Amino acid sequence: MADQPPTVNSDIPENSKERFSLIKEQFVKKFGCEPIFFARAPGRVNLIGEHIDYCGYGVLPMAVEQDIVIAVATQDNGKLNLSNVDSQYVDFECDVAKYEINSSNPVWYNYFLCGFRGMSEMLGLTEPTGMQCMVHGLVPCNAGLSSSSALVCCAALATMQANGQQRSKKEIADMCASCERYIGTQGGGMDQAISFMAQMGTAKKIDFNPLREESVMLPSDVVFVVSNCCVEKNKAASSDFNTRVVECRLASQIIAKVKNLDWRQFKRFADLQRALGASLSEMVAIVGSVLHEGAYMKSEVCEVLGVSQEELAQTSLSANTLQVSEFQLRKRALHVYSEAGRVERFQEVCNTAPPGASGILGSLMNDSHTSCSVMYECSCTELDDLVKICVEAGAIGSRLTGAGWGGCAISMVPSSVVESFLAAVVEKYYQARGLGPRVGEALFATQPGSGAAVYLA
Ligand code: GLA
Repeated sequence: MADQPPTVNSDIPENSKERFSLIKEQFVKKFGCEPIFFARAPGRVNLIGEHIDYCGYGVLPMAVEQDIVIAVATQDNGKLNLSNVDSQYVDFECDVAKYEINSSNPVWYNYFLCGFRGMSEMLGLTEPTGMQCMVHGLVPCNAGLSSSSALVCCAALATMQANGQQRSKKEIADMCASCERYIGTQGGGMDQAISFMAQMGTAKKIDFNPLREESVMLPSDVVFVVSNCCVEKNKAASSDFNTRVVECRLASQIIAKVKNLDWRQFKRFADLQRALGASLSEMVAIVGSVLHEGAYMKSEVCEVLGVSQEELAQTSLSANTLQVSEFQLRKRALHVYSEAGRVERFQEVCNTAPPGASGILGSLMNDSHTSCSVMYECSCTELDDLVKICVEAGAIGSRLTGAGWGGCAISMVPSSVVESFLAAVVEKYYQARGLGPRVGEALFATQPGSGAAVYLA
């Protein structure tokens, strides 16, 4: 499956026909010609395994129905023209061989350009074909459902199709994970992998280096409900995300140094674990004995590693974390190693379905949230409140999903109580905060959706 290219369908699915024809209408209005195909890439919700993909550990997401669709026509004038059905996103035009991706300004078309550039480079094209594109997104922005990666992936897929090429889902996903870093965020590869490798009806365990996927059947007596706390967080617009990536890197390097390994070789906790030949619980013990509580000042990190601040910038920091002066290392490391263990257990429970499986999965989700909130400090008051309300309303498990600091929670709810659950969350969270009008898009049950594909117009 993952070794195959994304499917090219000659028929548009019945339930998408109306939407696709509206996008086509906008396309014709804007460009005065008809699109030749549509590219589609979904957003995702991560069930468990937060902030561990960039540390080399497996995660367990599924695609959501909400997606990005781009209607495309090729043109031979060497131009890329981008327009969005939603007029709050301004039009953009550039030459196919001459444009800049401005990482200090995460405006919408820069994500398109990441996918466009990544695919052009992958195909070895210095002059990819010109394209006219009409974009329509239904993934809520800055909500932890991966709207940005869906756009990067969709743009890459559109560029591949427009240039008449084919690459496997796996290759494209790997490439999209790297090219999204043109925008400055040093994310892992979860979002891009699931956007391409998702399959209707099943969640996926995604592992990295090399990228691989396995289907994970979820219990049939529960429903997964997404709820947006309505605090927006654009991870490319602040240094919070990259600070976490750097903290993980520094923690790996310090432990490597203390264990007499060549610390410069270590950027990820998973590589460190492999080198030490330790289990995840042994790693938790090692972290406890090597890293102290509280913050490490930058000067202390330099002293332990035996480098100057300039050298540290080269070995460990990113452009937007050069100014960070203190790092939490122990808490971050404890989160990552324990969360990696929870993902393994979650997959095992799904696969073996022991008695009380949903209860075990729910506890793992609850523990994951606590660890994200307390140890990784990537939640916010509103999201913590929402998760608490979800559990009180009948969820067996609830946790923040995606990068955090705002955005969505994912809750596992027994099918038998979904209606009362939804009613209680509407009342206790949305109505209580004057967010009643947002309920329609902010609170919804979701099922594992399908991955990225092309549809001929
Ligand atoms: C973002 C990144 C992912 C992952 C999550 C947190 O979505 O793009 O790679 O790190 O945050 O789990």
